[in-house]
Amino acid sequence: SRRLALRSPDDEAGVPVGSSSRDRQLEGPIATEHTDRSSSRRTDRAVLATLSAELDRATRAHGGAVVGHDDEPDLLLALDPADPAPAEPAEPAGYRLLRAAGRVTVTADHPTSLLHGWFHVVRLGAVAFDGPDTDEHHAPVSALRMLDHWDNVDVHPVMGQVERGYAGGSIFYDAGHVRADLSRVTTYARLLAAVGIDRVAINNVNVAAREARLLTDDLPEVARIAAALRPYGVRTHLSVSFASPVTLGGLPTSDPLDPAVRTWWRDAADVVWRAVPDFGGFVVKADSEGQPGPFAHGRDHADGANMLAEAVAPHGGLVHWRAFVYNHTQDWRDRTTDRARAAHDHFAPLDGRFAGNVVVQVKHGPVDFQVREPVSPVLAAMPRTRVALELQVTQEYTGQQRHAVYLGPAWSEILRWQPWGDAAGPDDAPDGGAPVTVADLASGRGPGGQGGGIAAVSNVGDDRFWTGHPLAQANLYAFGRLAWDPALDPPAVLDEWIDLTFPGAPAELRAAVHAILDESWHTYELYTAPLGIGFMVRPGHHYGPDVDGYEYTPWGTYHFADRDGIGVDRTRATGTGYTGQYPAPWREVYESLDSCPDELLLFFHHVPYTHVLHSGKTVVQHVYDTHFEGVERVERMVERWEDVAGLVPDDVARRVSDRLTEQRRSAVEWRDQVTTYFWRKSGIPDEQGRTIY
Ligand code: GCU
Repeated sequence: SRRLALRSPDDEAGVPVGSSSRDRQLEGPIATEHTDRSSSRRTDRAVLATLSAELDRATRAHGGAVVGHDDEPDLLLALDPADPAPAEPAEPAGYRLLRAAGRVTVTADHPTSLLHGWFHVVRLGAVAFDGPDTDEHHAPVSALRMLDHWDNVDVHPVMGQVERGYAGGSIFYDAGHVRADLSRVTTYARLLAAVGIDRVAINNVNVAAREARLLTDDLPEVARIAAALRPYGVRTHLSVSFASPVTLGGLPTSDPLDPAVRTWWRDAADVVWRAVPDFGGFVVKADSEGQPGPFAHGRDHADGANMLAEAVAPHGGLVHWRAFVYNHTQDWRDRTTDRARAAHDHFAPLDGRFAGNVVVQVKHGPVDFQVREPVSPVLAAMPRTRVALELQVTQEYTGQQRHAVYLGPAWSEILRWQPWGDAAGPDDAPDGGAPVTVADLASGRGPGGQGGGIAAVSNVGDDRFWTGHPLAQANLYAFGRLAWDPALDPPAVLDEWIDLTFPGAPAELRAAVHAILDESWHTYELYTAPLGIGFMVRPGHHYGPDVDGYEYTPWGTYHFADRDGIGVDRTRATGTGYTGQYPAPWREVYESLDSCPDELLLFFHHVPYTHVLHSGKTVVQHVYDTHFEGVERVERMVERWEDVAGLVPDDVARRVSDRLTEQRRSAVEWRDQVTTYFWRKSGIPDEQGRTIY
């Protein structure tokens, strides 16, 4: 029964933030005039109204009362804008949490930050008030934290409503239209605000004809989505097609250096910001997997991105330009083309040419969101560019939300990875300063200081549990928390999620969910493609094993197994030279068989099945052992769940049980196909004589 209060400077100005009714202005017609100041003000008022509603909601659920800010509240949320207010509205930063004699004050100079501070208190629960006196400042490590939805407006004949979506349909669209009822979108924004995410791209990076029109004809509908996200401080971004000037504007070309094209984009951007004054910007997949781009006009990616950057700059907008560019029509006979090299080959030479509001968005690995890949060398190759790390929360290659796979530990490894080893940058000696991490690069703390933030592909759909597998919610949670603070400990983040998801649950349930998820990423790695080789999935939908499925395809995802050995030689000495894209020490570490880590061995080297790993096992015996162990671990996951399923609501119990049953079936299938493949190729039997087919 705490007493809660909200204070904002508008209180004195008579703006009724103390009522729980939504700011009516928000539901009014789209403004035709705006300034940055008034648009940010609109967002601010929406978020303040939300905060006020959150306080009401909390007291209704847990007792207590909302009181005036002068009434000695136990918790005071105080908006305290910087004085004088900056000319440009700043990115929401952080909040201050002060606890004195059991009373808590959260202060921020931006309503969205105050909202994040509120959720911090919610996360802590009673502990927020019980601890010793404190004065803490909490700020996200990275200013840009974004989720990308690969949602289609139309149901795509192959990909469905959500490309690589494993949680039902889209929360935004239903069969060709923006949903009439967007209340779920606001609830989603609430989930995101609770973990500090404040930007969402609402449509697929593969922009088909129907989706392209979100930029023009459908703007009023986009504005409705933006209005549904806005109350929780989440800004809307759109994926756009580079060919829009032709397909939507009727121009003869989309050449980024053509003046008419530039004007078309500038006008288009003006209209977008008129419809959605706090719009975030554009996401672009260009010259990638069939999407149009600057190459067709003899231009490069800097030309393309900068043209869009110029169009959005007057509005303070961003262009997220994806670096996922490679030849997807490769001839498998061509041994000189290495897909892993492509992003670096295309983008590193462009460093320094991108405008300040372009963010080059780089997948965490050089290939495609595999369970294990080295970290992309592009992240460290562009010190004069704002580079963002792109992760995949949706589990395309990690079990598609049928397998319980907690990705927090995988992302944490990536974020903590040190591109220059123990050195602070390319020109520093190992003891020349704190080692720079990927998280530093993404947040502008690396050489060059040009952070582009963190983005990820969302795993959410209209499924009743949001993520298909109820336990996959842990990934959405962990993404937000790690994007906010990459130094967080993934098992601790998992426990936060468990405590918030199963409040008041018996210790037995909490321990079981923890045990099921904590090591699950590694478990998945054990029973799928071994030693960093990747893929081996069914082509097309990418679920389940198919060792040679991609071997003779145009996609550039090969393992090169023959009777003697397996793996891709990416060395400078005898292979594709990919190791040379890394700075020291990694270019040497990966080049040499002696120092290449076991888990990435087959990514970098082609070796005989009898090659002995650092672990002391041969490659082939490692494959047998890991695959049998992986299945045993899944068996234990199933048993752990059976012990506690009765402690959760029936629908959750049933859904998790069904998914675990499928995970076990699929893991057995993976084990048997992969072990059989290696046995048939190598003729080397399992030392332990287990059943191989
Ligand atoms: C993967 C995925 C595609 C997606 C692409 C991308 O290749 O399978 O569905 O479009 O990544 O990131 O653009």
